Amino acid sequence: MEALRFRDGVLEILDQRLLPFEERYLPVRDARGASEAIRDMAVRGAPAIGLCAAYAVALAAREAAAAPDAAGKLSELTGEIAAARPTAVNLRFEVEQALAALPKHPAGWYEAALRYAEGRSREQALEDAAIAQHALELFRPGMRVLTHCNTGGLATGGSGTALGAIIHAHRALGLAEVLADETRPRLQGARLTAYELQRAQVPHHLIVDGAAAHFMAQGRVDLVIVGADRIGEDGRTANKIGTYMLAVLAHHHGIPFVVAAPRSSCDTSWRDDGAIEIEERSMEEVLAPLGTRFAAQGSSAYNPAFDVTPGELVTAIVREDGLFRPPFRLR
Ligand code: MRU
Repeated sequence: MEALRFRDGVLEILDQRLLPFEERYLPVRDARGASEAIRDMAVRGAPAIGLCAAYAVALAAREAAAAPDAAGKLSELTGEIAAARPTAVNLRFEVEQALAALPKHPAGWYEAALRYAEGRSREQALEDAAIAQHALELFRPGMRVLTHCNTGGLATGGSGTALGAIIHAHRALGLAEVLADETRPRLQGARLTAYELQRAQVPHHLIVDGAAAHFMAQGRVDLVIVGADRIGEDGRTANKIGTYMLAVLAHHHGIPFVVAAPRSSCDTSWRDDGAIEIEERSMEEVLAPLGTRFAAQGSSAYNPAFDVTPGELVTAIVREDGLFRPPFRLR
């Protein structure tokens, strides 16, 4: 099951809005379609949206090369791709790298961008495998592990980051169970993580986001491991809303709190007092989750999609190039 694939000039996106009930690939033929798929979360997870953006640059290059002002068109379309979601740094990173891989003449743009995207797809698989291998030293047989959102194969071009590491650790050592936060409001934990854990035959239970403290207080969590959308040089981590709450809880209960992510999620320019943009999504996602209205008519909601965990609350960061402990000075 691949989150994305490219066939006969068409980008095919496994439509995660339909999971776990339907596995259907959404055909995307132009750059604007790819930007829309990222915005509406047909594809999601920082590395996967980065990879989608790399393929989208190829689609943009194909369209732009045929336009009267090729460079202007390319810059307009790739600007839209990079801005589709603001928090994951992977999006901007992959667009910049894909553009840097283009030759001068528009006739060669499409092939060059496609080569870049296909190369990144292979690299992400290797990065995920290396993350899982480095993370193994944090796990012990029989552990009970808590995770948030979805960071598995659906969220990257490989086997996943935090969830990939969990599945690898279960195969290598045997975990007692995984507690998966359902992850309001888009329910990535319930719809995607539980689905991946089930397919991988890892024992797991879904819990509501508010239950984490209860399970920690009962001594039923040995390790928390999550992914990231952006990591600053001091280990500060932007990730799915609710992650910061888990880090505070883990600290209070003396439980290790680990972040697993590739280097392409690291933004070393994010430091000191610098703020990043936290995506604010439609309030309808909270008032009417997955289209079913719960809130009273006329109610309003806030819907920040991410929060920021300070580096002091992070016990370790695992990347493809190793396992880092505080004080973090990431490069
Ligand atoms: O809004 P989403 O589903 O794109 O958010 C995903 C997360 O927060 C993940 O933890 C993060 O992107 C890492 S995915 C390997």
